[in-house]
Amino acid sequence: MGAFAALGLAGPCLAQATEIPHIVTRGGRHALIVDGRPFLMLAAQVNNSSNYASALPRVWPMLDRLHANTIEIPVAWQQIEPREGQFDFGFVQTLLDQARAHDKRVVILWFGTWKNTSPAYTPDWVKLDNRRFPRMKTRDGKDHDVLSPMFRSTLEADKRAFVRLMTYLKEHDPQNTVIMVQAENEVGSYRNPRDFGPASRAPFAGPVPAALIRKLGKRPGDWSSVFGAQADRAFNTWHTARYVDEIAAAGKAVKPLPIFVNAALAGPSNVPDPDGVASGGPQQDVLDIWKVAAPSIDAEAPDIYDRASGNVALYLDAYARPDNPLLVPEIGNARDFARYFYEALGHGAIGFAPFGMDDTGFSNYPLGARTLDDATLDAFARPYQAMAGVMRDWARLALERPGWGTARPDDGSDRQATLGDWTIKASFGEWQFGEKSWSWLKSEPAPWAEEPVGGVAVLPLSADEYLMIGDHVRVRFASAKPDPRAMVVRVEEGHFTAGTWMTDRVWNGDQTDYGITIVDRPVVLKVTMGRYR
Ligand code: DGJ
Repeated sequence: MGAFAALGLAGPCLAQATEIPHIVTRGGRHALIVDGRPFLMLAAQVNNSSNYASALPRVWPMLDRLHANTIEIPVAWQQIEPREGQFDFGFVQTLLDQARAHDKRVVILWFGTWKNTSPAYTPDWVKLDNRRFPRMKTRDGKDHDVLSPMFRSTLEADKRAFVRLMTYLKEHDPQNTVIMVQAENEVGSYRNPRDFGPASRAPFAGPVPAALIRKLGKRPGDWSSVFGAQADRAFNTWHTARYVDEIAAAGKAVKPLPIFVNAALAGPSNVPDPDGVASGGPQQDVLDIWKVAAPSIDAEAPDIYDRASGNVALYLDAYARPDNPLLVPEIGNARDFARYFYEALGHGAIGFAPFGMDDTGFSNYPLGARTLDDATLDAFARPYQAMAGVMRDWARLALERPGWGTARPDDGSDRQATLGDWTIKASFGEWQFGEKSWSWLKSEPAPWAEEPVGGVAVLPLSADEYLMIGDHVRVRFASAKPDPRAMVVRVEEGHFTAGTWMTDRVWNGDQTDYGITIVDRPVVLKVTMGRYR
């Protein structure tokens, strides 16, 4: 078997190390291609103000501690263009040099017109010039803090700076240390669903663009008649997405790296209150607007700070779409969030990043961890460590077949799924030996039984073989249809060499008699099912 076949790659994927990273989509599944091969971003995002050379020494040890292969880090407009037309890429070069020295890939977060909706990261000459770069107007004609997406002057200035950044990467990063770029950060506006100033008057009264009408299957009309109570928000979403798309397209024309946008999420199961949500952002209920308005954006991505397991499941479902690769560019850095790594993998995620991961003394409680103690860091680090050696294979296989993953639900109940002929059941809070129900062997409940830890992700390798990774979980495989001849044939711990599974040891006896129970040491296993004749 040739090397390509073993890797599951078609010939044309044969790539130089310098092939520009991109996303491929096949059968509604996705992979991020880095150096010509699928890559799983085991990432961490630094704190907001860690985008300076002085902070980097407190960043890299944390990335290593986490076994992360990718750093997500801001590059701010105010930082690269402090005076109009005068650019300073000193930090970007330092970042490239140090990332290479520390063997990390980079996702640059472009903090431009919007950062958590605000213009805080624009240069002073932008912030202070409201005539040239106007803020939005509220319903009663007052200035709102957020810059309006309705002005070409603002768009052109942001675009110019972004294009310079992408030009710098084209010229100084031929090895593609930077693998992806986030355009803006949590765009939109709170408490003001659109710009109510004169610049919006005619467009708001005009027709909804035909392409959007077609996509949504609506009847043509103006914004109010098509969108009713959500009209202001739909209008702002369209114009914000068009604005970001133009910037992204101009950047990609220089260097076509994948570009995504992140969403400040709204409640998962209701239509958001247009005054409460970051109106304009790519929340799950307006993804179709973004898809039509922003074709240059490769992914809309959820920032997850909601700890409720049911809500996280809904977010992951909403963003994992055939037309949208799932990427979790931010998730809280508290211990409870770590288990969602497995659930994201089960949804085919191309990357995952806890937020606020550096040693600057900032941990973001109560949004994030109270402190970044060892228990917290291990919860993220150990799954990354176990996955690191097989991440290319995992990403390759996830492009080929759908998998499944789950995190311990808040109520600790069992979770199960059927993949092909076999059902996989995850239960939580089990000791390693025996059954909870046994009365002859007394034990106290496992200490982690009530803790928000535990999860598993599974990918089929063939009809009867599965790859799995998990922790604080017991996993049982069984025939989907009752079949007394069905059994687990082998459970192997191992790794891949050039795309081929290599067994390091076989798990048997106590390690498999009660299901496969993994506690605090996540491990990659291959499970083979079968039936005797
Ligand atoms: C989401 C933003 O995108 C991040 O930059 C950061 O501000 C977090 N919220 C909060 O810590």
